[in-house]
Amino acid sequence: MALYSEKVMDHFRNPRNVGIIEDANGIGEVGNAKCGDIMKMYMKIEDDIIQDVKFETFGCGSAIASSSMATELIKGKPVSEAMKLTNKAVAEALDGLPAYKMHCSVLAEEAIQAALDDWRSREKQS
Ligand code: FES
Repeated sequence: MALYSEKVMDHFRNPRNVGIIEDANGIGEVGNAKCGDIMKMYMKIEDDIIQDVKFETFGCGSAIASSSMATELIKGKPVSEAMKLTNKAVAEALDGLPAYKMHCSVLAEEAIQAALDDWRSREKQS
């Protein structure tokens, strides 16, 4: 069996939603101290819907594939749904990740939560 699923390879080679959103109203950056990989999520949220989401990931192929899949899973969805997205759901949507690469999908969950936290704190201030 191949180490990585076809979906992982597809999202690694052709990542969706790469880049930044200039007028993002929720930005989250997280890193993994062990491997040094960094993931940054930008969100444009209006009426509690994630209208747009983009990412920049300086990391391994699994982290790139996880970010790409995670953005696809939450784009156009309500904030309440994005809040529930787990790294397990991201990995499952990718048809699995090797056990020692599961931490890469954790970065995607954490980056999304960080961006949503940022959005919430901006909302409170306005
Ligand atoms: Fe660090 Fe994948 S090896 S996120």
